[in-house]
Amino acid sequence: MPPTSDPKVLLNEISELPMTSSASRGVLQFHERLPGYAPTPLFSVQGLADRLGVGTVLIKDESERLGLPAFKMLGASWASYRSIIAHTGLDPDAWSTIEELTERIRPHLPLTLATATDGNHGRAVARIARLLGLRARIWVPVGTADARVRAIESEGATVTVTDGTYDDAVAEAALVADEATLVVSDTSWLGYEVVPQWVIDGYSTMMSEVADQTVKAGLSEPTVIVAPMGVGALGAAIVSHYAGHEPRPVIVGCEPTNAACVMAAFEAGEVVTVPGPHDTIMVGLSCGTASPIAFPTIKAGLNATVSFDDEWAEEAMRLLAAEGVISGETGAAALGTLLALVDRRPDLRGELNLGPRDVALVIVTEGATDPVNYRSIVGVGPNEVYA
Ligand SMILES: Cc1ncc(COP(=O)(O)O)c(C=O)c1O
Repeated sequence: MPPTSDPKVLLNEISELPMTSSASRGVLQFHERLPGYAPTPLFSVQGLADRLGVGTVLIKDESERLGLPAFKMLGASWASYRSIIAHTGLDPDAWSTIEELTERIRPHLPLTLATATDGNHGRAVARIARLLGLRARIWVPVGTADARVRAIESEGATVTVTDGTYDDAVAEAALVADEATLVVSDTSWLGYEVVPQWVIDGYSTMMSEVADQTVKAGLSEPTVIVAPMGVGALGAAIVSHYAGHEPRPVIVGCEPTNAACVMAAFEAGEVVTVPGPHDTIMVGLSCGTASPIAFPTIKAGLNATVSFDDEWAEEAMRLLAAEGVISGETGAAALGTLLALVDRRPDLRGELNLGPRDVALVIVTEGATDPVNYRSIVGVGPNEVYA
């Protein structure tokens, strides 16, 4: 039986994009110099297009990105790198391999990278710290799954479990900034805007790949894209990528019902905090406050925001598994949103480009980061999906 809960949909009038503070020049060239860089797969899945009643579904599969099970390394690595360059004054052009960069950083040690995380961003910061010979200190909200804590620790980081929500973890991590500790947060606050903009810029590599891959494979360009939103940084990257693009796809932001901080900000006309607990299986989206630097961009560029219940993400995980795509709970948010929209709000098909000739881009933003929960939802473990 498919889920039956109604999504909440807020349509939004798009407007001209505000200028962002920094350009993303050089991001792709930076990522290409990281060990194991390769564009993640983009492919069409007819079974999902049939289920949704659209022409094409393109999956951008981020379940393995630079050796980690989520897209977040793109933003974490670029923001960490830019922070280190700014802190040390190193010449950004004076290296071609990660070993050379590590060598150049060595005289400036000890250096620590610090951040809060729901899991993926923190693990990625810890990974780039390890690659560059730095230390990492990572804060996670209470209740973070053991598998996620262990994964961050496996990168050599020190993990602190806070007593509260993700927002509380952000506040704690912010306090440790000093001359030897660089905070690399994916969300922003007053006076801390530069680094989170670098995180957003880092995500541009994924969208550059999509553009390149659609051309090379002779695929149609997306006419509708769903952006899963925690603090809204990925959403801002997607909106920025399509600024000035003709024809422009419809861009829909989505978030869990219990952590709908972007929708609350849209309704209030400014960033507001949604009180916790932000209980959801989509832990990567379990945030109570949108990033203030992402907000103007997503407010200008999202055609709609949608909040929806966990059961749609579970259904999406199962459908993706049936197609051989291993997606974690958060990774399935975009497909879950499309399922909820076509099943419960068919009246919006026209407005949201969900018709029989449309092309939906579904970014599977993470793999099975909590294998125990994955098995309980999908019925088999992530290693058995292909069996
Ligand atoms: C797997 C995954 N998808 C999507 C997001 C949402 O990104 P943002 O917080 O930039 O909105 C996150 C954030 O942590 C994530 O981990």
